[in-house]
Amino acid sequence: MVNQLMQDFIEKFGDGGDIRKYFAPGRVNLIGEHTDYNGGHVFPCALTIGTYAIVRKREDRKMRFYSQNFEKLGIVEGSLDNLVYDKAADWTNYPAGVVWAFGEKGYTVDKGFDMLLFGNIPNGSGLSSSASVEVVTGVAVRDLFGFDDVTMQDIALLGQYSENNYNGVNCGIMDQFAIAMGKKDNAIFLDCSDLSYTYAPIKLDDAKIVIACSNKKRGLGDSKYNERRAECEQALAELQTKLDIKSLGELTEEEFEANKDLIQSEVRQRRAKHAVCENQRTLKAVEVLQAGNIEEFGKLMNASHVSLRDDYEVTGIELDTLVENAWEQEGVIGSRMTGAGFGGCTVSIVKTDCIDAFIENVGKAYLDKIGYAADFYVVEIGDGGRVL
Ligand code: GLA
Repeated sequence: MVNQLMQDFIEKFGDGGDIRKYFAPGRVNLIGEHTDYNGGHVFPCALTIGTYAIVRKREDRKMRFYSQNFEKLGIVEGSLDNLVYDKAADWTNYPAGVVWAFGEKGYTVDKGFDMLLFGNIPNGSGLSSSASVEVVTGVAVRDLFGFDDVTMQDIALLGQYSENNYNGVNCGIMDQFAIAMGKKDNAIFLDCSDLSYTYAPIKLDDAKIVIACSNKKRGLGDSKYNERRAECEQALAELQTKLDIKSLGELTEEEFEANKDLIQSEVRQRRAKHAVCENQRTLKAVEVLQAGNIEEFGKLMNASHVSLRDDYEVTGIELDTLVENAWEQEGVIGSRMTGAGFGGCTVSIVKTDCIDAFIENVGKAYLDKIGYAADFYVVEIGDGGRVL
């Protein structure tokens, strides 16, 4: 595939020079949803699918981008002299934002480049195609411009910084971190309050991770993502009138129950309850997984979905239909929405010999109820962003 992409690059941008190749994966979060920006824990893993970038430095200050996923846009041109968000620049705001973020942190990119991208993550599916583009750009910029002291963790932070400040989406650190730091066959148990992390081997024996994509399109910017974040911040401020805490992630369920009346609205109480309980569920989930109790892990995944549906209200009919039907299938250990919600994907752990029936039955129930098809992917856990 990479050789073909090299050929495609040459066709678009011409031959010659030092053409380099990079890759960054997509990610799926197993549990710990909407906890990252609440100072809690997450448990995502990188996938083997992701974004390929073929890049060559230029002698001038132009940046020329071409994505095989958005062929109709053709080559989109930008300039190092005009690094500001531009709606018309479409997806290229992600790589341009990363170049801008490097500059903000003192790493000045002084020459332009040509970049061809190809992603085999479904776009806008909730598997973080945008964070994947950010990280692959970060890896490319570090390599092309010799910013050798920039670590993979720095690349994750630069990606998040660019998404927050260039693209205007207040995302947490989970996606960029999982994509930059991923490790084959491992999930990352990340404490988002201080970025300490450990790798946890995912041994599912006779089961696999199955992703169902709802095909309901969404963008984080126009979703209620920023609104949920603001609700949690307000709930935290209300709790802080009495409690000495820095984030919702510091609370146990018992502490929350004893103090929840400080939060002045029923809706915000439910938002905060989700953030607190989901964090505690994530801690338990990692514990039971390490003890080899995959059944219990699955139950915690299911409870996570219920909380995201009823208390955090970020699921919607598409994700609920996929998950509620999944729960009824033979061989399903656990199933929940994954990512921001409002559309996107679900993640299920399914016994290998039940996967075909799972896809058929859930697929049919979804089509009948929603009126268009879902897509299913049996995925493998892969490594983080890298030079190829
Ligand atoms: C999106 C954001 C992440 C995280 C999840 C929800 O994927 O980019 O930072 O908040 O939603 O868990």
